[in-house]
Amino acid sequence: MALNVELLESSFAQIKVNSSKVTKQFYTVLFTDYPEVQPLFANTNMEKQRKQLFQSLVFTVNNLGKPDVLSNTLRSLGTRHAWYGVLPQHYPMVGSSLLKAFEVSLGTAWTPDVQQAWTEAYEVVAQLMLEGTDYSPERLVPIVK
Ligand code: HEM
Repeated sequence: MALNVELLESSFAQIKVNSSKVTKQFYTVLFTDYPEVQPLFANTNMEKQRKQLFQSLVFTVNNLGKPDVLSNTLRSLGTRHAWYGVLPQHYPMVGSSLLKAFEVSLGTAWTPDVQQAWTEAYEVVAQLMLEGTDYSPERLVPIVK
């Protein structure tokens, strides 16, 4: 899928201006809409986490034109997420919350085209992260026991 790099870059430039507001909003939406994921962050320093999340978004947008760099980094990030206890079904929850936070931040600049560009980008990112994990049933048994 060809991502709309130009639109992703220009809209992200606006989101960057309010990065700390956006990440706060994101976790507020995530924990309000999907309280079941909150226990995953029980021992997390949320201030540090907000910064790390945003840095990974900056890295992703900066490397949209370098698929090899992006794939390697996002697959490793996905591997680590399985260690944190993140499951495939959590990815759409994070996607919806992140896009809602972007929508609030961009206001009228959140046009249908921008929404589509980010929906597609998140799908690609989540897919690459999931490629870095082994969620086969045999592997999941010890986790759910
Ligand atoms: C676009 C998708 C995502 C991105 C870019 C992202 C980014 C990050 C980054 C950069 C970290 C810091 C630690 C590291 O680099 O390994 C992190 C940690 C974490 N993420 Fe994500 N994440 C994503 C999806 C998710 C999802 C779907 C969940 C599940 C609700 C999740 C839950 C966590 C948890 C629990 C941690 C560990 C916090 C700790 O250290 O205590 N993330 N994430």
